Amino acid sequence: VTAASASVEHFAPSNIALCKYWGKRDQALNLPVNASLSISLDYLGSFTRVEPVENGVDEVWLNGHQLLPSSRFSQKVSAFIDLFRRDQDLHFKVDTRNNIPTAAGLASSASGFAALTLAMNDALALDLPPEHLSVMARMGSGSACRSLFTGFVEWEMGVREDGLDSHGVQLEQTWPGFCIGLVEIDAGEKATDSRSGMQRTVETAHLYQSWPLQAAADLSKLQQAIAERDFELLGQTAEQNALSMHATMIASWPPLLYWQPESVAAMQKVWQLRAQGMQVYFTMDAGPNLKLLFQQHDRAELLQHFPTLETVEPFGN
Ligand code: PMV
Repeated sequence: VTAASASVEHFAPSNIALCKYWGKRDQALNLPVNASLSISLDYLGSFTRVEPVENGVDEVWLNGHQLLPSSRFSQKVSAFIDLFRRDQDLHFKVDTRNNIPTAAGLASSASGFAALTLAMNDALALDLPPEHLSVMARMGSGSACRSLFTGFVEWEMGVREDGLDSHGVQLEQTWPGFCIGLVEIDAGEKATDSRSGMQRTVETAHLYQSWPLQAAADLSKLQQAIAERDFELLGQTAEQNALSMHATMIASWPPLLYWQPESVAAMQKVWQLRAQGMQVYFTMDAGPNLKLLFQQHDRAELLQHFPTLETVEPFGN
């Protein structure tokens, strides 16, 4: 295989899990303990440009700044490119730009690795089918395998040891009025990344034993909610799933608590709005920020309670 194009650029959306991926059954291949389900964020994500370079090392740029080759992110990107170039002496400049409001506190590794997968596929003229691209993206960051697709996406855990059947599958593509709101509590980098957080939970929390059961039950409830456009079932399931995941983190040792006091205050505000009859729910990942799930007709009122809310309509309006 030879580098085919001078420069290629691809986009991939960010995604938010409604049923979370938490725990690996294989550390090296990023194979999950449980299947997960997410929603892709339409135009919010990463643009990644790849071009061959002659100087014998990869060059990694993020949002307009070149990173040191020794930085953790550069190393991760280079190791990921190794999967594509194998033992060929090919090096690349990788330039990633995220259009996710940096203050929204949304992880960009999923969209970044998905866009890089698409770009490498083009740069090396590999012509891989979508499922295989999703498998490759998974190797960069587990949740990236879901960012290869739009709308609702399920990550099937698969049964094979080589992981070739563990990838994203596109589900329903439309739900008019479905909205997501990003509540930024803290945009700073998290102290414990998801890889080490998962590992600690799996190794030290007895409570983790119940997680695969919770995730399996939630996955089928979400599939039903999506098929029937049952927003209440979807919201309840997603919120309970996120809190169950966080319960396993808190039950780890040393304890892993991603929440800030402001996170809890925001949760209580959501519960208060629900008590007043609004259908609004939240989900959270390995960080202090909340992602709200609500419907278009509640947007104006919700903004009065969360004035800085960044809102996205994943299926357009
Ligand atoms: O893809 P990773 O390794 O960054 O893990 C993502 C983990 C969560 O965001 C907490 C859950 C998920 O399914 O996205």
